[in-house]
Amino acid sequence: MGLAMSVIGTGYLGAVHAACMALEGHDVVGVDTDEARAVALARGEAPFYEPGLDEALVAARGTGRLRFTSDIRAAGDCTVHFLCVGTPQSRDGLAADTTYLMAAAHALAPHVRGDALVVGKSTVPVGTSGAVELAMSGERGGGVRVAWNPEFLREGFAIRDTLHPDRLVYGVDAASASADVAVLDEVYAGQVGRGVQRLVVDRTTAELVKVAANSFLATKISFINAMAQVCEAAGGDVVALADAIGMDPRIGRSFLNAGLGFGGGCLPKDIRAFLARAEELGVGEALDFLRAVDRVNLGRRTRVVELATSVCGGSLEGARVAVLGAAFKPDSDDIRDSPALDVAQRLHRLGASVTIHDPKATHRAKAVAPELNYSDSALGACTDADVVLHLTEWPEYRALDPADLARVVRAAVVVDGRNVLDAARWRAAGWTCLSLGRPAA
Ligand code: UDX
Repeated sequence: MGLAMSVIGTGYLGAVHAACMALEGHDVVGVDTDEARAVALARGEAPFYEPGLDEALVAARGTGRLRFTSDIRAAGDCTVHFLCVGTPQSRDGLAADTTYLMAAAHALAPHVRGDALVVGKSTVPVGTSGAVELAMSGERGGGVRVAWNPEFLREGFAIRDTLHPDRLVYGVDAASASADVAVLDEVYAGQVGRGVQRLVVDRTTAELVKVAANSFLATKISFINAMAQVCEAAGGDVVALADAIGMDPRIGRSFLNAGLGFGGGCLPKDIRAFLARAEELGVGEALDFLRAVDRVNLGRRTRVVELATSVCGGSLEGARVAVLGAAFKPDSDDIRDSPALDVAQRLHRLGASVTIHDPKATHRAKAVAPELNYSDSALGACTDADVVLHLTEWPEYRALDPADLARVVRAAVVVDGRNVLDAARWRAAGWTCLSLGRPAA
């Protein structure tokens, strides 16, 4: 028998969680203040591109166990409530903006049953679970049990990561630990049954686990990108370097892909929010290295702008630049803090005429960067280009025939911002291939 649960906030995290929970046998109502989003989800249409999500929504709807609404009262009968609301970077600083999360907690509070468990999944500054509990209890005039259960899903693999996570982390309050763990075990009976490890910790640690994990991943990427800078100065090859150090199991090869660096809705804002929170806690210095992580990351974008400028003879005025990719990574249409789009906009501001192609993210990119030109094919974007920049590693770009592209460009120069193109093949077709942290020839 499944549980009756609500999922408050149906962005990347909430929409995927709601669909997966229904597929696991629970009775789920997804609630979002954005009515159009709720209506689309109810039709089985994800408001963003995520492989397999439309199919999962349709399948879950078919079971009769998944609904979406903008009416918070629909959450009233549930025994578990998941808070999946976004916590973006604040407009005026590095900290995370928890306004939407707290607003959701306030809105939900009057409808929570006395025996229900509220489970936070959003990525939050450490201490937020206590603030949520206080706010909800105050609103209801009685105790509300709050647990924290961070999510580690990656865009592009969100369904798989939800159904087969590396681990489950239950952050529970000591006063209600056994009851809360029992509820979470029921929620995740499918995953636990499939052998997924679960770790029971206090809520503070659970909140920290998420930001620590993302900080570590960001640090790994910036580490290899710092090595790329050294390789550029000394003449080394960062990909061979990553392969060699990655063979040490203590280091590991994953997240050592040097290139244009990280973007998206999580890594950049999470390291900044962690820094801001550490400052508040009086331990800002301990996380000082995250400033360098951020700096190295943003520096890679400048490097690509410089490479493009030098290829175009030192000035971008009147130059035509083709940009392959707008999303922050492949298999996503997310352009939040996208390195590719950032570079494209900077080149435009420096006087270049920039034409972008992306298999999925064009509509989103157009909305925030209408000044750029868009093409619905990679070949179209490259036509008459003085330089081609490969900035998001969609598999279809690796499958392009460099000889076809060489026929349409003005100059056959490609900058591989992700170090994944087969440089030998491109060179054989007459291209000059430049990359980040690798020798030019
Ligand atoms: C990340 C975490 O991986 C996930 O666990 C967490 O829940 C949310 O944040 P996501 O933002 O979907 O997930 O993307 P991820 O696959 O981690 O990539 C982040 C960025 O790093 C992308 O821009 C990607 O291009 C870049 N990246 C990744 C590199 O530049 N090099 C690498 O080796 C790996």
